[in-house]
Amino acid sequence: MLALSPRLRATAAPPIPAARAWSARYRGAAGPMLDLSQAVPGYPPHPALLQRLAAAAGEREGAAYGEIEGDPALREALAAELSATYGAAIAAEDVAITAGCNLAFSLAAAVLAGTGEAVMLPVPWYFNHRMALEIAGIGAVPLPCRAADGFLPDPERAAAALDAAGGRVRALVLVTPNNPTGAVLPPDTLARFAALCRARGVWLVLDETYRDFLPAGAPHALFRNPDWRSGVVQLYSFSKSYCVPGHRVGAILAGPAFRAELRKALDTWQICAPRAAQRALAWAVPALADWRASNRAVMAGRAAAFARAVAPLPGWRVDALGAYFAYLRLPDGAPDAEAAAEILAARHGLLGLPGPFFGPGQERHLRLAFANVEEAALAEVPARLAALG
Ligand SMILES: Cc1ncc(COP(=O)(O)O)c(C=O)c1O
Repeated sequence: MLALSPRLRATAAPPIPAARAWSARYRGAAGPMLDLSQAVPGYPPHPALLQRLAAAAGEREGAAYGEIEGDPALREALAAELSATYGAAIAAEDVAITAGCNLAFSLAAAVLAGTGEAVMLPVPWYFNHRMALEIAGIGAVPLPCRAADGFLPDPERAAAALDAAGGRVRALVLVTPNNPTGAVLPPDTLARFAALCRARGVWLVLDETYRDFLPAGAPHALFRNPDWRSGVVQLYSFSKSYCVPGHRVGAILAGPAFRAELRKALDTWQICAPRAAQRALAWAVPALADWRASNRAVMAGRAAAFARAVAPLPGWRVDALGAYFAYLRLPDGAPDAEAAAEILAARHGLLGLPGPFFGPGQERHLRLAFANVEEAALAEVPARLAALG
C-alpha cells in the first residue's frame, strides 16, 4: 500500500453516513423513519428562488469564472442585510463569498493559524470544525461546556484554558446558535468573549450559520464597534436559511488585513464560489426577507412543540435547546449514546446523532435536529425515545 497522508488517516470518518447505516436497518415497526440527524430544513426552497436558480444556470455568464471574493451583487446584498440585522455599517468589501460555510471555516483556519499552532473549540464542537483543523495540522484546544450552564461556553473558563495553553492558540471559535446543542450565546457573553480575545491577542471566529432562526433583533452588538475588523471573523451559510445546501454558498465577514491573506486561499481552493447560485441569492437576500421571517416563526413553533412533547418523558432531560437543535441527556441506566442512537434508529425509527460525534465527554448526550420535521411528526418523538427503555 502506497503511503497516504497521516493527518487524513488520523481524521475521523464522516459521521453522518455512519448514522444513516443504522437507519437503513430500520424495518418500519414504529411508523415512518423520523430523520433528526443532519440539519436540513424540512421545507423546500421558495419556488421563485428555484426559478431564479434555473434561469441563472442557463446563462452564459453563470458558466464563467467569477471574482475571487464573490459576485459584487451578492456581496452588496449580504452587506446591506448584515448592516440592518446588526445595526452596524457593514460594507460589501467586508464580505467574501465561499463555496459553503464548511469551506469558509477551513479558509479562516488557514488564514489564522499554521501547523503546530492551535484553535480553541468549545466542547461539544461541530465535528467538521474539528476535522478541518486536524486536516490542516492545527491543534484543537478544548473548552469544555457544562450541562449546568446550559452548554454555554464560559469566558472565565476560556481565559484559564488560554493561559494553560501557553500562547499556542491563535483563534477561539464560537458557534451560535450552537451545533450540536442549540444553545444561543447572549449578547453580553459574546461581548465578554470579544474583550477576552482582544486582551489575549486571539481572533474570535463566530459561526452564525443558524442566525436566521433566532427571534428578530440583533444577535449581538460586536459589529457596532468598527474595531471588529481587526479581531472578529464571522462565518455564514446560505444552506439552511434559503434551503439550498446543495448549491454550496457561504460567506466570510472580515476586515481588510484578514481578507488580503484570505484572497490567496480563496483563489487557490475555490477560484470562485458557484456563480448561478450567487446570482440567484443576490436577488433572494432582500426579496425573500419575509419568507425567511415566516420560516423563523415555523422553527420557533417546532422548538416549542418539541420542548412540550419531550418535557413529560421520564428520565430524559433537555440540557439545551434552540434554533435548530436539542441536546438531550439520556436516562440513567440507558446504554451510552452511540449504542442508544443505533438502537433508536435501527429498531425505533428515530435517527439522531450521538454526543461522541461532537467531541470527548459526550457519552450521555444525543443531538436531535428537531427543525427537520413538522410539528405533527414531533409529537411522535417521545414514544420512540421511551421505547429505548
Ligand atoms: C455550525 C455549522 N457550520 C457550517 C455548516 C455547513 O454549512 P454549509 O452547508 O454552508 O457548508 C453547518 C452545517 O450543518 C453547521 O452546522
